[in-house]
Amino acid sequence: MSDISSKANDPQHIGIIMDGNGRWAKQRGYSRPAGHKEGAKTTRKIIDACQDLGIKYLTLYAFSAENWNRPDVEVRALMELLEFFLSRETKTLIKQRVRLHAIGRIEELPERARKALQKAIDATAEFDEWHLVLALNYSSRNEVLDAVRSLAKAAAAGEVDPDSLEWGDVSQHLYTAGLPDPDLIIRTSGETRISNFLLMQSAYSEFYFTDVLWPDFDREQLEKAIATYRCRERRFGKTGEQLSHPAAST
Ligand code: FPP
Repeated sequence: MSDISSKANDPQHIGIIMDGNGRWAKQRGYSRPAGHKEGAKTTRKIIDACQDLGIKYLTLYAFSAENWNRPDVEVRALMELLEFFLSRETKTLIKQRVRLHAIGRIEELPERARKALQKAIDATAEFDEWHLVLALNYSSRNEVLDAVRSLAKAAAAGEVDPDSLEWGDVSQHLYTAGLPDPDLIIRTSGETRISNFLLMQSAYSEFYFTDVLWPDFDREQLEKAIATYRCRERRFGKTGEQLSHPAAST
């Protein structure tokens, strides 16, 4: 194992677009759901690795709002897998003191999956050090739309003054309210798109793309992504000079 003991400039929050389950299955002559099942095993390993590496927040893109357009059999398999994953993993999450969150239009998930999700969220609600966020029926554009709707209603009711709104007020209406923005976003499988994932929250995130398919992604790959992140200079609009000599800022 490489020496990757946690460092001060490590990411606090990693978001992952877990892509490539279908191709992994196809390469082996398996069905697509078999690829997702293998992907779920990777998910468990990466949760463990994040805890070992001191990553406090992990957000996983598990089902996008657009994924409903897949064949029924695959959608059903993904929902069943979610239910199975939650029933199997909740005990471990409790043992690891990981708090589960969900972002997305959760109310539109099938009842059984929704209930399993709520049960797991309730069972881990007391923890506040480690956080696992599942993006389910998630779409950044829907998230913005839902925030705009809720702010517009509040404005119509005279509860907020539109002219004094700031970004902080808007972000409080996103599904991710209360969660820090991701420092690093990883996408597996060689695709270099963001696919409607955390568009608002990733304004200053670093991106890491790898050809490795999600079922093959492992702790070593995660460490590689973190090592790359450590070499990046996050300037947040400032110059490199300002960052290395803060006194020369003015
Ligand atoms: C994208 O790969 C993956 C998904 C749409 C589903 C992600 C689900 C998992 C990793 C498993 C379950 C996780 C939980 C938390 C229950 P793809 O199917 O688009 O792959 P392809 O591009 O190779 O076809």
